[in-house]
Amino acid sequence: MTDEVIFCETPDDVADAAAELIFEKEKEAVAERGVFRIALAGGSTPKLLYERLAAEEWREEMSWESWEVYWSDERAVPLDHPESNYHLAHSHLLKHVPVRNIFRMFSDVSPRLSGGNMGGLEQAARDYQQLMIKQFADPLPVFDVILLGMGTDGHTASLFPNSPALQSDQLVAAVETNQKIQHRLTLTYRVLNAARTVIFLIAGEEKAELVRDVLLNGDPSLPATHVKPEGGECYWILDDAAAHLLE
Ligand code: 6PG
Repeated sequence: MTDEVIFCETPDDVADAAAELIFEKEKEAVAERGVFRIALAGGSTPKLLYERLAAEEWREEMSWESWEVYWSDERAVPLDHPESNYHLAHSHLLKHVPVRNIFRMFSDVSPRLSGGNMGGLEQAARDYQQLMIKQFADPLPVFDVILLGMGTDGHTASLFPNSPALQSDQLVAAVETNQKIQHRLTLTYRVLNAARTVIFLIAGEEKAELVRDVLLNGDPSLPATHVKPEGGECYWILDDAAAHLLE
């Protein structure tokens, strides 16, 4: 596993660097396997990337017909909810490009409304796991690229500190959260660490201490620390504000 940090000045430069890297990995994947499988992330930093990919320069470059689009995590909200990661990617990328193979997480069940019963979300986790195994024709799906962000509590995908999902032996976990944030579905470390390439997109001063604690101190309490694709590459694309404690 190789960790590589790419230093950028601004969040827009992070998006540009990520688009370049995705193009490189897409070409490799299509040449070798005829398909490019990517898991998208939620959050404000990936949104800049999606807008970049939908703009003319990259829209004309990518082999969209070879793309299979999945998600690294999703909230238990309706598809058109502003907090939906599907809604984010569809609004800023997928409705603008000719991707045909889109496999969303069916997390739009409502544990909160059904008295907190997580059964529907747990079934959605099992369903997505089976979908991936079928599409990849492999009991352990190996993504070409998995996009990740990192929250201000150190979570990545929807793997939160101290969550039972951190120890899950499944491919997809249902994540019961507190009242302030939506329940989620998330890919587990088994899938993240099987990927050929993981790309962290991180920007902003509020992430600087976390970036230092993960990359310099290897803080085991932070979920992002344990993303180490065994046979793959892990890129950390950082803006100056997020990277300034690394010097
Ligand atoms: C989610 C996201 C999450 C996100 C981080 C960073 O659904 O919560 O996938 O993991 O990537 O919270 O978000 P920002 O890029 O907005 O800081």
